[in-house]
Amino acid sequence: MSVDTETQRFTARAREIAARETKRLLDRTLASAKLYERAVRVLPKGVASNFQANDPYPIYLDHGGGSHVWDVDGTEYRDYHGGFGVNVVGHAHPKIVEAIERAARSGVHFAVTTEDTVALAEELCRRFRLDRVRIVNSGTEATMDAIRVARAATGREVILKIEGSYHGHHDAVLFSVLPEADLLGLRGTTSGEAADSAGDVYRTIPTSKGVPKVMADYTLIVPFNDAAALDHILSERGGQIAALIMEPIMMNLGIVLPQPGYLEAVRDLCSKHGVALIFDEVKSGATVAAGGAIERFGVQPDLACFAKAIGGGTTIGAFGGRADVMDWVTKGAAQQGTFNGNPLSAKAGLVALTEVLTPDAYEHLAKLGTLLAEGCTRAIQEYGIPAHAVDLGAKGCVSYRREPLRNYRDFLECNPDLFAASWPWLLNRGIFMTPGDEEQWSISVQHSEEDIGIYVEAFADFCAELAS
Ligand SMILES: Cc1ncc(COP(=O)(O)O)c(C=O)c1O
Repeated sequence: MSVDTETQRFTARAREIAARETKRLLDRTLASAKLYERAVRVLPKGVASNFQANDPYPIYLDHGGGSHVWDVDGTEYRDYHGGFGVNVVGHAHPKIVEAIERAARSGVHFAVTTEDTVALAEELCRRFRLDRVRIVNSGTEATMDAIRVARAATGREVILKIEGSYHGHHDAVLFSVLPEADLLGLRGTTSGEAADSAGDVYRTIPTSKGVPKVMADYTLIVPFNDAAALDHILSERGGQIAALIMEPIMMNLGIVLPQPGYLEAVRDLCSKHGVALIFDEVKSGATVAAGGAIERFGVQPDLACFAKAIGGGTTIGAFGGRADVMDWVTKGAAQQGTFNGNPLSAKAGLVALTEVLTPDAYEHLAKLGTLLAEGCTRAIQEYGIPAHAVDLGAKGCVSYRREPLRNYRDFLECNPDLFAASWPWLLNRGIFMTPGDEEQWSISVQHSEEDIGIYVEAFADFCAELAS
């Protein structure tokens, strides 16, 4: 069978499955439908963040415990959504509950630094090999502040960003996040070459309305896994460039791993041109290894950003790095915030990082992650599904393209229909997952081999159905 015929067959079958499974999902989530009717009167799209929205309505959750969550209809699921990768400690972990209770009893907010905040900063510096760190409230704040500090430290204004990367929702980084394929006119291009004849920089495509057009002049877009393109732009314009901000492992396109030698080359090029290298480890930090991608790949950025898993489920962010760069926050680069380092998040984060996410916990996460990815790979191979699985500690995913992804252009070749069928299929079989194919699964320390078995079985049944 030709590739085109095979793709058509899988796509047609996926559409049938998606229609059937979506109907089944909607038929059994009446309480979510009802809550949506109420929510949408006061919350645009019925949710607190655009990323929580779904068509025709989101599945609203009621509570969680351990590795499980329950929706408002009372249906129980194994949680692989993990609150977009926050819940590596799982839900209501006894140590986190106790930490939060203790904080609640002794004051959740002072806007004065406490000893727990100092201890959390020490742990972040130890784990991620940072000299100095500041604690903020979200990944967005962390990347916003890191970019400001990099600009202050270098006296330059332009930043480089990788095509297809997400760094939160402040103006500087809302370009070329998931640019539409037809906007690029590049669907089908796999070689990663430049989008136009201008060289190695891709077009800076606005991601959001409401961002001043002029911001595009300050954010240049380069491809991932292409050190030659970076070399080219830095040779041409290095003197204007303050920072390269990048996810060392791209995790908003499924998972895109850096190819061997790429991060080292990026490190060298940034050093050569006096450009601050910022790793956005909001997703990878404390999930892909205790010390995130910095530990896993042994490449040290000038600044790194964290959030999500470092707070044990509470609201948090952090950024840090070399002392001489971070010290710009004391020399005129604005870095502040009422809730920064608040006792609630500091206590929960400290307990999560020092008492729950221990070396044993990372062994457990790695073991389960491998079981899950291998189980999915077996099913993919058995049924000849055009997909591959990625295994990365607490994180992993199935992407519907046979070969691993190297960059955003490869992501555009994933078959969205296969994902769209898999999501309701898994949900209807007790697996709670994020509704977008750019996300990935998150495993918690409270997941068990039984939880993994249930996912693998549901996924294998999906592959069988797709191939039938
Ligand atoms: C890599 C990365 N950076 C930054 C952010 C923004 O973090 P937050 O949603 O906490 O503002 C995200 C959110 O998903 C992310 O994945």
